[in-house]
Amino acid sequence: MTLTRRKFLNTTAVAGAAGIGLSAMGKLVSRALAGPDPVTLKTARIEAKLMDVGRTRDVLTYGEAGMPPVLRMKKGEPFAARLINGIDDPTTIHWHGIRVPNKMDGVPFLVQPYVYTGDHFDYQFTPPDAGTFWYHPHCNTLEQMGHGLTGVIVVENPNDPQFDAEKVINLRDWRLGDDGQFIDQFRPRDAARAGTYGTVRTANWLDQPQFDAPAGGLVRLRAAITDVTRVYAFRVEGAEAAVIALDGNPVPQRFAPDALQLGPGQRLDLAIRMPDDEGAIVSLRDVRGTKPKILATLRAVGKSLKRDVRDLAPLEANPVAEVDAASAQHISLALSATAENVPADGICGSLGYSFWAINKVPWPGDTPDPTAPLADLKIGRSYVIDMENLTPQSHPIHLHGMSFKVLSSSTRPVQPLVSDTYLIQPDEKVQLGFVADNPGDWLLHCHVIEHQKSGMTSYIRVT
Ligand code: C2O
Ligand code: CU
Repeated sequence: MTLTRRKFLNTTAVAGAAGIGLSAMGKLVSRALAGPDPVTLKTARIEAKLMDVGRTRDVLTYGEAGMPPVLRMKKGEPFAARLINGIDDPTTIHWHGIRVPNKMDGVPFLVQPYVYTGDHFDYQFTPPDAGTFWYHPHCNTLEQMGHGLTGVIVVENPNDPQFDAEKVINLRDWRLGDDGQFIDQFRPRDAARAGTYGTVRTANWLDQPQFDAPAGGLVRLRAAITDVTRVYAFRVEGAEAAVIALDGNPVPQRFAPDALQLGPGQRLDLAIRMPDDEGAIVSLRDVRGTKPKILATLRAVGKSLKRDVRDLAPLEANPVAEVDAASAQHISLALSATAENVPADGICGSLGYSFWAINKVPWPGDTPDPTAPLADLKIGRSYVIDMENLTPQSHPIHLHGMSFKVLSSSTRPVQPLVSDTYLIQPDEKVQLGFVADNPGDWLLHCHVIEHQKSGMTSYIRVT
């Protein structure tokens, strides 16, 4: 917007009538033009304490020390961030789950140039939805995310019900050797299976942190799985707990997390009713597989607030357009393994292998010249993705730019959840419906990064 003299005069006239002085108005005008003050997110290579043995070198973060900051935004209010690249590798930021304009989506080559060492890029958007989201690079991601560049985003809604406390938890692993230093980020034979697991598991970069929370109070616990590989199965012990939102969106019906499976990229919002007794411990656990783990604990402090989880008002639904399943066009999407081969190298961190395919095509991942889109969608129309998993692994499939609704599954009853990431199980067929209401090129990929980088990436085009 350019401010003409005429507009400026009109504004000052109104301001004058409202009794605001000229100089104050000048400040307001320049503020409105400049937008909100940008948050600075500068990538840095640091040392961090992740294990008992010494400090780990070559850890990546935004900021100067410790975990990337939890970013707080407000639903419907503009947000701005300046990414400054302080590391010796090109980077970008993707705002996972936030429905941003295409130019702000952070995918190199598809929507924006690389941000090279010493350069910067200004992101600005208005989050339309409240909830728990996260941010990460979309460049050489196995390396950059694997070394630390994953942060949580909270988009606040002033109409949210009142909790007595809120805890935000960033769940992720690290591939470290006994000496506390990074080891190879992946093993090809694991990339062709479930992915290569980390060796050290953390919550907020700590081993099993403990937080204090008011006894008898209601806690909102927001957890984001920002790991590149691990699927979790959540359970809460020591307190009554209800899932109130998944992937940023309220669940139609609350339920207790009983080995609830969520994959990389997904988020869990829990309402936890703390025990009445001071000192009582509540634990958030991962009960999947052969090595269950206590991820974090809450300790009740003070005199009981005697709250009741049933008094919590429902969360407001996000303004996501309702899919018209009857008129929707269907897009078939088959996830399969592929014959192993070595593709032409992508320049944004291809693994140098292909193991996976979408509709029989192993997609090269981030390349300077991506192949044609998987589908061309018409703006404003309804679509249903019929997705089928023909592999023996589960895959957290993530769509950029738009939220879908889970319509049906061939293997289990599903709630009509609104989401951006669906963890599809082996032999499952699922229908995901959405309105193509955000123009641009939008990635669709598995969030097990080794799968993404060895064939399981594609994109759709909305015009
Ligand atoms: Cu969480 Cu394509 O990303
Ligand atoms: Cu996968």
